[in-house]
Amino acid sequence: MRAIKKVIITGGAGFIGSACIRNLLSREDVEVLNIDKLTYAGHLETTESFSKNPRYRFLQIDICDKNAIAKAVNEFSPDAILHLAAESHVDRSIDGPDQFIETNILGTYNLLKTALRYYQSLDAKRQSQFLFQHISTDEVFGSLGQDGYFTETTPYQPSSPYSASKACSDHLVRAWLTTFKLPTIVTNCSNNYGPYQFPEKLIPLIISKAVNQEPLPVYGKGDNVRDWLYVDDHAAALVEVLFRGVVGETYNIGGKNEKTNLEVVHLICDLLQELVPNKSSYRDLITFVEDRPGHDLRYAIDCQKIQNELGWQPKETFETGLKRTISWYLDNQNWVRAVTEQDYSGDRLGLKTA
Ligand code: NAD
Ligand code: TYD
Repeated sequence: MRAIKKVIITGGAGFIGSACIRNLLSREDVEVLNIDKLTYAGHLETTESFSKNPRYRFLQIDICDKNAIAKAVNEFSPDAILHLAAESHVDRSIDGPDQFIETNILGTYNLLKTALRYYQSLDAKRQSQFLFQHISTDEVFGSLGQDGYFTETTPYQPSSPYSASKACSDHLVRAWLTTFKLPTIVTNCSNNYGPYQFPEKLIPLIISKAVNQEPLPVYGKGDNVRDWLYVDDHAAALVEVLFRGVVGETYNIGGKNEKTNLEVVHLICDLLQELVPNKSSYRDLITFVEDRPGHDLRYAIDCQKIQNELGWQPKETFETGLKRTISWYLDNQNWVRAVTEQDYSGDRLGLKTA
């Protein structure tokens, strides 16, 4: 087990990064520095539950800013860097790939260069504990047909500007390990859902629109399949890897919860009907809309490696996790308003050509 006491998290004002910070701060002896640019997807409202914790610090920095990143890393002197900051929405990457190339590729490159210089300045004992952990997605593997699963050795074949930019960053991280001996681990996870997810993604978007009695947009026929994992289960897996993962390895993380998009939307409608009964079924709001360009058919993760080698298991089933998620969004409409009021109208994204 690595003796990690000080962790830098990038992207900790976003959905998964904030869940990782909650997990880490629940350990008495860990200090966290959150580095986040606060884009449209990052909000201080997401960090309110831990922002006053004396073991937590925040710096508003763009990971592409060489000087600011170098200063922050050297001054905080971390035992590990958990890199989550990214542009994360496929539809936005279709409308405008530039920011994806900047943050996901050049930002990761900048962070790797800074991390390597910092790592080389450490004494042998601290070097032996250091880890750069890169958080990635199963979308780098491309699309599955009806059968099979993504394993750690599945070749990369990304389809969208988002997944291509994440694939590039994964390759950079591996190159820094192989060439420069920076101790790194890459994790590739399936679709997450849960509290604090920006309401542009399928599950919070459908909840928000249903609550407001607006049409529920399902792309194409709704038969694309995603493998859903509750965000706290992902955070627990990432923390397990942080302390016990083997340097140079890759770990796939998934929920073994394959659902078509239409099944997901139906389930949200039916759970909402129990929680906020409506005269007509919420399902009547479902509207089939033009498909996403380059829409991957199916993602499904084989996560036996992390289960067998690190003993990680998801705690939530899709039904329990979704119930928690819907209740959270119903109870936290103020958060939804706060994070969407400036930059997001709920309109369809991802139909423009770059
Ligand atoms: P998110 O969009 O909710 O949060 C991203 C965070 O990064 C935001 O707080 C944003 O302000 C910050 N950020 C963006 N650009 C930045 C920059 N240039 N400098 C500093 N901060 C910046 O994303 P998320 O869903 O929490 O995803 C986090 C990571 O996990 C991403 O790397 C993503 O690719 C990966 N991932 C996400 C999923 C998923 O289902 N959401 C699944 C697998 C992997
Ligand atoms: P999304 O949450 O954007 O995640 P990803 O594209 O990274 O998998 O989308 C999940 C699935 O839901 C994907 O197949 C696209 C589909 N989708 C809709 O049908 N309607 C929507 O309004 C959105 C945002 C997504």
